[in-house]
Amino acid sequence: MMVDTHTHILPGIDDGAQSLGESLRMLRKCRDQGVKKVVLTPHFYPTVESVDSFLARRAQAYETLCSAVTEDLPQLILGAEVAWCPSLEHMEQLTDLTMGNSRYMLLELPYMAWDNSHLDGVRELILDGRVVPVIAHVERALHLQRRGQYQALAQLQVPMQISSEIFGKPFGGKKALRLMSQGSWMIGSDCHNTTNRPPCMDRAARYLQAHGQELRQCLDWTF
Ligand SMILES: [Fe+2]
Repeated sequence: MMVDTHTHILPGIDDGAQSLGESLRMLRKCRDQGVKKVVLTPHFYPTVESVDSFLARRAQAYETLCSAVTEDLPQLILGAEVAWCPSLEHMEQLTDLTMGNSRYMLLELPYMAWDNSHLDGVRELILDGRVVPVIAHVERALHLQRRGQYQALAQLQVPMQISSEIFGKPFGGKKALRLMSQGSWMIGSDCHNTTNRPPCMDRAARYLQAHGQELRQCLDWTF
Protein backbone atom coordinates (compact mmCIF):
# COMPACT_ATOMS: atom_id res chain seq x y z
CA MET A 1 0.00 0.00 0.00
CA MET A 2 1.40 3.37 -0.98
CA VAL A 3 1.67 5.85 1.88
CA ASP A 4 2.89 9.42 1.41
CA THR A 5 4.71 10.07 4.67
CA HIS A 6 5.49 13.77 4.28
CA THR A 7 2.95 16.27 2.98
CA HIS A 8 1.88 19.87 3.45
CA ILE A 9 -1.71 19.28 2.41
CA LEU A 10 -3.51 20.75 5.43
CA PRO A 11 -5.01 24.07 4.31
CA GLY A 12 -3.72 27.43 5.47
CA ILE A 13 -1.40 26.26 8.22
CA ASP A 14 2.07 26.66 6.72
CA ASP A 15 3.71 27.25 3.32
CA GLY A 16 1.80 24.28 1.87
CA ALA A 17 -1.80 24.32 0.60
CA GLN A 18 -3.19 27.84 0.91
CA SER A 19 -6.85 26.93 0.53
CA LEU A 20 -9.20 24.01 1.00
CA GLY A 21 -9.53 23.79 -2.78
CA GLU A 22 -5.79 23.35 -3.16
CA SER A 23 -5.74 20.68 -0.44
CA LEU A 24 -8.42 18.74 -2.28
CA ARG A 25 -6.61 19.04 -5.62
CA MET A 26 -3.46 17.70 -3.96
CA LEU A 27 -5.37 14.80 -2.42
CA ARG A 28 -6.88 13.94 -5.82
CA LYS A 29 -3.39 13.87 -7.32
CA CYS A 30 -2.28 11.52 -4.54
CA ARG A 31 -5.28 9.28 -5.19
CA ASP A 32 -4.63 9.20 -8.93
CA GLN A 33 -1.07 8.05 -8.24
CA GLY A 34 -2.31 5.14 -6.13
CA VAL A 35 -1.60 6.64 -2.70
CA LYS A 36 -3.92 5.13 -0.08
CA LYS A 37 -2.81 7.08 3.00
CA VAL A 38 -1.20 10.46 3.49
CA VAL A 39 0.50 11.71 6.62
CA LEU A 40 -0.24 15.41 7.16
CA THR A 41 3.01 16.96 8.37
CA PRO A 42 2.74 20.75 8.69
CA HIS A 43 5.83 22.64 9.80
CA PHE A 44 6.19 23.14 13.53
CA TYR A 45 8.85 25.55 14.80
CA PRO A 46 9.28 25.01 18.56
CA THR A 47 11.26 28.22 18.99
CA VAL A 48 8.44 30.42 17.72
CA GLU A 49 5.25 28.62 18.80
CA SER A 50 4.05 26.49 21.69
CA VAL A 51 2.93 22.93 21.07
CA ASP A 52 -0.55 23.83 22.30
CA SER A 53 -0.89 26.66 19.83
CA PHE A 54 0.35 24.47 16.97
CA LEU A 55 -1.97 21.61 17.88
CA ALA A 56 -4.95 23.97 18.04
CA ARG A 57 -4.18 25.39 14.59
CA ARG A 58 -3.61 21.88 13.22
CA ALA A 59 -6.90 20.62 14.66
CA GLN A 60 -8.78 23.48 13.04
CA ALA A 61 -7.19 22.90 9.62
CA TYR A 62 -7.81 19.14 9.95
CA GLU A 63 -11.46 19.72 10.76
CA THR A 64 -11.83 21.96 7.73
CA LEU A 65 -10.24 19.33 5.50
CA CYS A 66 -12.20 16.40 6.97
CA SER A 67 -15.47 18.22 6.37
CA ALA A 68 -14.73 18.27 2.63
CA VAL A 69 -12.98 14.98 1.82
CA THR A 70 -14.82 12.28 -0.06
CA GLU A 71 -14.46 8.52 0.39
CA ASP A 72 -12.40 8.04 -2.75
CA LEU A 73 -9.55 10.16 -1.35
CA PRO A 74 -6.62 8.77 0.65
CA GLN A 75 -6.98 8.25 4.38
CA LEU A 76 -5.62 11.17 6.42
CA ILE A 77 -3.15 10.68 9.27
CA LEU A 78 -2.00 13.54 11.48
CA GLY A 79 1.67 14.30 12.01
CA ALA A 80 4.08 17.21 12.03
CA GLU A 81 7.45 18.22 10.61
CA VAL A 82 9.28 19.35 13.72
CA ALA A 83 12.18 21.74 13.24
CA TRP A 84 15.29 20.83 15.22
CA CYS A 85 16.14 23.12 18.14
CA PRO A 86 18.43 22.77 21.15
CA SER A 87 17.03 20.61 23.97
CA LEU A 88 14.15 19.34 21.86
CA GLU A 89 14.38 16.05 23.77
CA HIS A 90 13.21 17.88 26.92
CA MET A 91 10.03 19.13 25.35
CA GLU A 92 6.85 17.89 26.92
CA GLN A 93 4.13 16.76 24.49
CA LEU A 94 6.65 15.36 22.01
CA THR A 95 4.39 12.34 21.60
CA ASP A 96 1.60 14.62 20.36
CA LEU A 97 3.72 15.35 17.29
CA THR A 98 4.22 11.80 16.00
CA MET A 99 2.70 10.25 12.88
CA GLY A 100 -0.68 8.83 13.82
CA ASN A 101 -0.41 6.32 16.65
CA SER A 102 3.19 5.50 15.83
CA ARG A 103 6.28 6.75 17.65
CA TYR A 104 7.78 8.19 14.44
CA MET A 105 8.31 11.93 14.49
CA LEU A 106 9.48 13.73 11.37
CA LEU A 107 12.47 15.85 12.35
CA GLU A 108 13.81 18.63 10.14
CA LEU A 109 17.49 19.30 10.63
CA PRO A 110 18.69 22.74 9.50
CA TYR A 111 19.84 23.23 5.93
CA MET A 112 23.53 23.64 6.80
CA ALA A 113 26.55 21.59 7.76
CA TRP A 114 25.41 19.67 10.83
CA ASP A 115 27.63 19.91 13.86
CA ASN A 116 27.84 17.84 17.01
CA SER A 117 24.96 19.70 18.64
CA HIS A 118 22.62 18.43 15.91
CA LEU A 119 23.90 14.87 16.12
CA ASP A 120 23.79 14.98 19.92
CA GLY A 121 20.22 16.23 19.74
CA VAL A 122 19.20 13.29 17.56
CA ARG A 123 21.04 10.91 19.90
CA GLU A 124 19.28 12.38 22.94
CA LEU A 125 15.88 11.99 21.28
CA ILE A 126 16.65 8.34 20.62
CA LEU A 127 17.86 7.81 24.19
CA ASP A 128 14.81 9.61 25.59
CA GLY A 129 12.76 6.99 23.78
CA ARG A 130 9.37 8.69 23.71
CA VAL A 131 9.58 9.23 19.96
CA VAL A 132 11.65 7.84 17.09
CA PRO A 133 13.02 10.75 15.05
CA VAL A 134 12.87 10.33 11.29
CA ILE A 135 15.22 12.69 9.45
CA ALA A 136 13.13 14.65 6.94
CA HIS A 137 14.28 14.83 3.29
CA VAL A 138 17.72 13.58 4.26
CA GLU A 139 19.01 13.81 0.70
CA ARG A 140 18.62 17.59 0.61
CA ALA A 141 21.48 18.63 2.87
CA LEU A 142 23.91 15.78 2.21
CA HIS A 143 26.12 17.84 -0.08
CA LEU A 144 26.64 20.38 2.74
CA GLN A 145 27.99 17.83 5.21
CA ARG A 146 31.60 17.46 6.14
CA ARG A 147 33.15 14.07 5.56
CA GLY A 148 31.86 11.50 8.02
CA GLN A 149 28.98 13.58 9.35
CA TYR A 150 26.27 11.68 7.48
CA GLN A 151 27.89 8.40 8.46
CA ALA A 152 27.79 9.48 12.10
CA LEU A 153 24.07 10.14 11.72
CA ALA A 154 23.51 6.80 9.98
CA GLN A 155 25.37 5.03 12.78
CA LEU A 156 22.68 6.20 15.18
CA GLN A 157 20.39 3.92 13.14
CA VAL A 158 17.88 6.70 12.87
CA PRO A 159 15.31 6.24 10.11
CA MET A 160 15.60 8.57 7.12
CA GLN A 161 12.84 10.08 5.03
CA ILE A 162 13.75 10.25 1.35
CA SER A 163 11.85 12.56 -1.01
CA SER A 164 10.11 10.94 -3.96
CA GLU A 165 11.05 13.80 -6.28
CA ILE A 166 14.71 12.76 -6.36
CA PHE A 167 13.78 9.56 -8.18
CA GLY A 168 13.00 11.72 -11.21
CA LYS A 169 16.31 13.61 -11.20
CA PRO A 170 19.48 12.60 -13.05
CA PHE A 171 21.29 10.03 -10.89
CA GLY A 172 18.68 10.70 -8.17
CA GLY A 173 17.30 7.18 -8.26
CA LYS A 174 20.74 5.68 -7.77
CA LYS A 175 21.38 8.03 -4.88
CA ALA A 176 18.06 7.08 -3.30
CA LEU A 177 18.73 3.35 -3.69
CA ARG A 178 22.09 3.83 -2.00
CA LEU A 179 20.46 5.64 0.95
CA MET A 180 17.77 2.96 1.16
CA SER A 181 20.42 0.24 1.37
CA GLN A 182 22.01 1.87 4.41
CA GLY A 183 19.25 1.57 6.98
CA SER A 184 15.55 2.07 7.57
CA TRP A 185 13.71 4.67 5.56
CA MET A 186 10.41 6.15 4.50
CA ILE A 187 9.59 7.78 1.19
CA GLY A 188 7.45 10.91 1.12
CA SER A 189 6.71 13.59 -1.44
CA ASP A 190 7.04 16.70 0.77
CA CYS A 191 4.38 18.18 -1.50
CA HIS A 192 3.41 21.80 -0.90
CA ASN A 193 1.05 22.60 -3.81
CA THR A 194 -0.03 21.36 -7.22
CA THR A 195 2.46 23.41 -9.23
CA ASN A 196 6.18 23.46 -8.41
CA ARG A 197 6.10 21.06 -5.44
CA PRO A 198 3.28 18.66 -6.28
CA PRO A 199 2.48 15.21 -4.88
CA CYS A 200 4.84 12.88 -6.76
CA MET A 201 4.97 9.48 -5.11
CA ASP A 202 4.48 8.07 -8.62
CA ARG A 203 8.07 9.07 -9.48
CA ALA A 204 9.44 6.79 -6.79
CA ALA A 205 6.97 4.03 -7.62
CA ARG A 206 7.82 4.11 -11.34
CA TYR A 207 11.58 4.10 -10.75
CA LEU A 208 11.44 1.27 -8.26
CA GLN A 209 9.14 -0.75 -10.51
CA ALA A 210 11.61 -0.34 -13.37
CA HIS A 211 14.23 -1.75 -11.02
CA GLY A 212 12.13 -4.71 -9.99
CA GLN A 213 10.92 -3.36 -6.69
CA GLU A 214 7.54 -2.41 -5.35
CA LEU A 215 7.21 0.80 -3.36
CA ARG A 216 6.56 -0.48 0.12
CA GLN A 217 7.59 1.64 3.06
CA CYS A 218 10.49 0.04 4.87
CA LEU A 219 9.19 0.80 8.35
CA ASP A 220 6.31 -1.06 9.86
CA TRP A 221 3.29 1.23 9.77
CA THR A 222 1.17 0.72 12.81
CA PHE A 223 -1.24 3.56 12.11
FE1 LIG B 1 8.30 19.36 4.52
